[in-house]
Amino acid sequence: MEIKQIKMGIVGAGTWGETHASIYAEHLFADPVAICDKDEVRARAIAEKYGIREVYTDYNEMAEKSDIDAVAIVTPDFLHADIACKFADCKKHLLIEKPLATTREDIGRICEAVERNGVRCMVDLHNRWNPPFNTAKQEVESGKLGEPYTAYIRHSDVKWVATDMLKWASKSSILWFLGSHSLDTLRWIFDDEVKRVYSIKKEGILKALGVDTADIYLTTIEFERGGIAHMENGWVTPNGNTNINDFKFSLLCTKGMVSLDLSSHNLIHLVTDEKAVTPDILVSNMVFDRCKGLSYESIRDFIDRLVDGKEFRVTLEDSRKTALAIIAMLESSETGMPVEVEY
Ligand SMILES: NC(=O)c1ccc[n+]([C@@H]2O[C@H](COP(=O)([O-])OP(=O)(O)OC[C@H]3O[C@@H](n4cnc5c(N)ncnc54)[C@H](O)[C@@H]3O)[C@@H](O)[C@H]2O)c1
Repeated sequence: MEIKQIKMGIVGAGTWGETHASIYAEHLFADPVAICDKDEVRARAIAEKYGIREVYTDYNEMAEKSDIDAVAIVTPDFLHADIACKFADCKKHLLIEKPLATTREDIGRICEAVERNGVRCMVDLHNRWNPPFNTAKQEVESGKLGEPYTAYIRHSDVKWVATDMLKWASKSSILWFLGSHSLDTLRWIFDDEVKRVYSIKKEGILKALGVDTADIYLTTIEFERGGIAHMENGWVTPNGNTNINDFKFSLLCTKGMVSLDLSSHNLIHLVTDEKAVTPDILVSNMVFDRCKGLSYESIRDFIDRLVDGKEFRVTLEDSRKTALAIIAMLESSETGMPVEVEY
């Protein structure tokens, strides 16, 4: 039996670009054909490791020459739009790493190019595939908890992510990097759109370490049907934390509540003379050399939906509204005033 494989290209051969390559390489319905990075050495290293046949340093050339069906855009947060528009113009489907884009203009340009070219586009807001969140969503949908009333979500990283892992943290924000996941999750669980936000930031710790970005944002969110949520996103959790993420969630509904602790779970605890850690078993855990976590599931779902033609579980409209609400939070944190989200 012949299997139809989706021929994939990847732009951005950094940390997360390698995650994409490993997933396409092992997915039965995907074939990683091409990879592009401005840094040729990086692109070649990943190409060799995962059997990717074409290497480019110019994404325009890859878009025009490579016989791919779709592209994964895995460049820094603020460098998604030009690449997305170019590949859409070359009739390639798009999987864009979160966030969709970081300015109102870029968000509009991508949506226009997707619409005009009739291509499909998903943004990798993968927390919907996180098993505890997915179960919480199912419980809410069952109706037994009543209506979502208030929620608290905390999704923060240890400092190391901003100071060492990302070379471009100064040009982004924890609101883009993790806040976009938090907000997409809240919108999905409340099944509602954000009406107004009030965000306050603290800064100083990262600036003193040479990274010119805010440390932490605390945001109050009002939904259109009256739900309220508090969202906390920081890049300054101590590096000694047992998990790279500090990830908590609680949801109060009119007839029940649900609470999640995803970073201090009791499923596995590992202690050496140096450190105690809570290994990741949800995001990118490996089972017999295969990535099985939610970061695998969302990317696999993109391929599956291209094969079966069904709607993506994160629509372009989801990612557009999430990005526009994050822009409102950033504006609120600058002005010190609540901001109505403009869609
Ligand atoms: N889904 C997740 O949970 C998750 C996790 C990590 C990163 N990300 C996202 O993935 C994206 C990339 O993050 P990363 O950590 O891999 O960053 P990274 O810095 O490790 O890699 C980015 C790569 O893009 C390349 N690049 C930049 N501009 C380019 C251009 N014009 N053409 C070709 N290559 C170019 C850089 O040379 C670099 O190799 C970001 O949007 C980030 O938010 C998502």
